[in-house]
Amino acid sequence: MSWYYLFYPRPAFVIGSGEPPEANFMAASWVTPVSTEPPTLGVAVDKESCTHKLIEKYGKFTASVVENVDLLWYVGSRSCEEENKLEKVKWFKGKTGAPIPEEAVGWAEAEVLSKVELGDVVFYIGKVVEWKARRGFGKWGWDLKEVKVPLQKAGRLFLLPPCKEVWARKA
Ligand SMILES: Cc1cc2nc3c(=O)[nH]c(=O)nc-3n(C[C@H](O)[C@H](O)[C@H](O)COP(=O)(O)O)c2cc1C
Repeated sequence: MSWYYLFYPRPAFVIGSGEPPEANFMAASWVTPVSTEPPTLGVAVDKESCTHKLIEKYGKFTASVVENVDLLWYVGSRSCEEENKLEKVKWFKGKTGAPIPEEAVGWAEAEVLSKVELGDVVFYIGKVVEWKARRGFGKWGWDLKEVKVPLQKAGRLFLLPPCKEVWARKA
């Protein structure tokens, strides 16, 4: 068991990169907001992936919430070298030109501001230049009764809401 499973289950997202016809999707669960001002989003990307090549080339990426775990597993288990994943997934071009899955319930588009290289991974920090939630989203994020934001448990095993809501006692 690896130490990083201390930080699982984690929400998983579809990362869009590049621009058509050189565009791609992969799955990522090592994704986090970094700062509120400027608004930044970080994602850890394997250097072997096509996504890494495309983020290096185009300097931008999208991160989308989808409810469909089969879609997450598909884009997260196939490489763009095996097949063009955008031919199997309906998508549209975001404001930055990077792709977003048609079925996304929400997404952020980011332009790379900074990166940290560590071993086989690059952690990209992008400035969020656009974002949208289509439904089931409020002041405190997703309403998990309405939107099934998937959490990756391990590999292709996911957890889906609803989760029990609990208020912490006032401190
Ligand atoms: C749920 C899930 C989460 C993943 N999280 C990450 C991640 O955070 N970073 C990463 O580099 N790869 C992650 N992967 C693996 C990539 O999605 C996978 O290597 C993908 O095939 C890369 O595609 P590409 O080579 O077309 O870019 C994840 C896969 C799954 C299924």
